[in-house]
Amino acid sequence: MYSDRYKAVAGMYAFLASLCLAFAVQAADVDDVEEGKQLFMQKGNCQACHGWAGDGRKMDNQMPDGANLREMKLDRTTFVMFVKCGLPGTGMPPFDKFAYSDGRCFGKKQSDLKAQGLKMADPPATLQAREIEAIADFAFAKIIGKGAMDRAKCADYWGSATDVCKEFKQ
Ligand code: HEC
Repeated sequence: MYSDRYKAVAGMYAFLASLCLAFAVQAADVDDVEEGKQLFMQKGNCQACHGWAGDGRKMDNQMPDGANLREMKLDRTTFVMFVKCGLPGTGMPPFDKFAYSDGRCFGKKQSDLKAQGLKMADPPATLQAREIEAIADFAFAKIIGKGAMDRAKCADYWGSATDVCKEFKQ
């Protein structure tokens, strides 16, 4: 009797705990996407070259032309590597503080780049590995392979139909 009742209560707690856990996990994902968006816009300033929508309409005319990330087919590992290591020979800067210091990027060091006449652009700021993962969460949720912006995608992007979205077709 007593133990049955105990089991029922314990079962209920286990169920509640798993619900809380499921919720916490989901909330963390949403936070990562939001944090990634902040990093894309501000600290990493990806938008300066890739545009706020990641479509290559850059925000700063003095900056090199960034790729249109919305039309890109790229897996997450490659994306993270490009952000950490940049793309030698283009204006895409490396965001890993230790890129080209120990061969972690394409097996090359500063001296190898120099020998090949490749100059890397300076990043607006260096990013930690987990910040780059957050940017990847955001990019894969809202940008990569999502195609051209439209009104609905724009409202989803900003969380509401803001004025910036008026330029897009319904
Ligand atoms: C100073 C300008 C600049 C900044 C800042 C910048 N990029 Fe880039 N990015 C470029 C350029 C230029 C290219 C290469 C375009 C090309 O292919 O010629 C590029 C390429 C890329 C690519 C590879 C696309 C492909 O060709 O497959 C990815 C992914 C990317 N950028 C992501 C980012 C992210 C994420 C950030 C912010 C953390 C960022 N970039 C910041 C200029 C920039």
